Amino acid sequence: MKIVRYVVDLLPRLSRQSLGLVPTMGALHEGHLSLVSKSILQNDVTVCSIFVNPSQFDATEDFENYPKTLENDLRKLSKIGCDIVFVPDESEVKSSGYEENSWHLGHLEGRMEGVRKGHFQGVANIVCYLFKLIKPTRAYFGEKDFQQISVVRRVVDSMGLPVEIISCETKRTRGGLALSSRNLRLSKKAKVDASNIHKALLFSARAFGDRISIAKIQSEVIRIFLKPYGIDLEYLTFLHEETLTPIETKYECQNIRICIAVYLEGVRLIDNTPIN
Ligand code: PAF
Repeated sequence: MKIVRYVVDLLPRLSRQSLGLVPTMGALHEGHLSLVSKSILQNDVTVCSIFVNPSQFDATEDFENYPKTLENDLRKLSKIGCDIVFVPDESEVKSSGYEENSWHLGHLEGRMEGVRKGHFQGVANIVCYLFKLIKPTRAYFGEKDFQQISVVRRVVDSMGLPVEIISCETKRTRGGLALSSRNLRLSKKAKVDASNIHKALLFSARAFGDRISIAKIQSEVIRIFLKPYGIDLEYLTFLHEETLTPIETKYECQNIRICIAVYLEGVRLIDNTPIN
């Protein structure tokens, strides 16, 4: 496995064969590794990038506290057979084609994860940089960040980039907690309690199917799954899966997704589930 810090060393290694890219911010867990493994199966060469992108953190979020576990990450990637790890620092990114564009993300900004100031602009800019630099055939993203995948697709469409976006199922602990680098910041007890987030989603999916109103579902979710465990709800939203527009009843569209964001021990956690 080649570990590459500079673009001049990266570019000659990117052959014209099929190339899979897994963009990450490090602190790699089984979810990330499953994306890398999928890319290895589907492409001749797999690049995993590790860059904690400062521009996607909003003021309330502690960029400095984002877990950094590079040595461990490299060990894990090498073990599963990743070909290249691109680990640039900020100055390398800034001096090799990164642009601060202003993206028209429409309704993708302004609700759910989009209320985090500048978050999706930062994601769009770094993803655009990586796609233009590495020119992957396919790029892999986890479904836990459901809204992010729509932002990435918007970037690809508006730039006309020839990359296929592969959206991969969320990996979970046995209790159902969606794997996330942020889980590292939770205490042992909180990790157990946090399995209620997924339970709340499954409950919501059933209740929505039974035509319980969204307001009632939200209050029941807080009462049964969140409040007893000190979990604060930021949103529980029912959406049209393709357009990400909020819906009120199950008759409004075919494919519905429920998205949730909560705070536990000061850590912001998100998850989602489709309604089948
Ligand atoms: O999902 C993430 O880890 C980040 O948002 C991404 C896509 C690597 C961009 O920094």
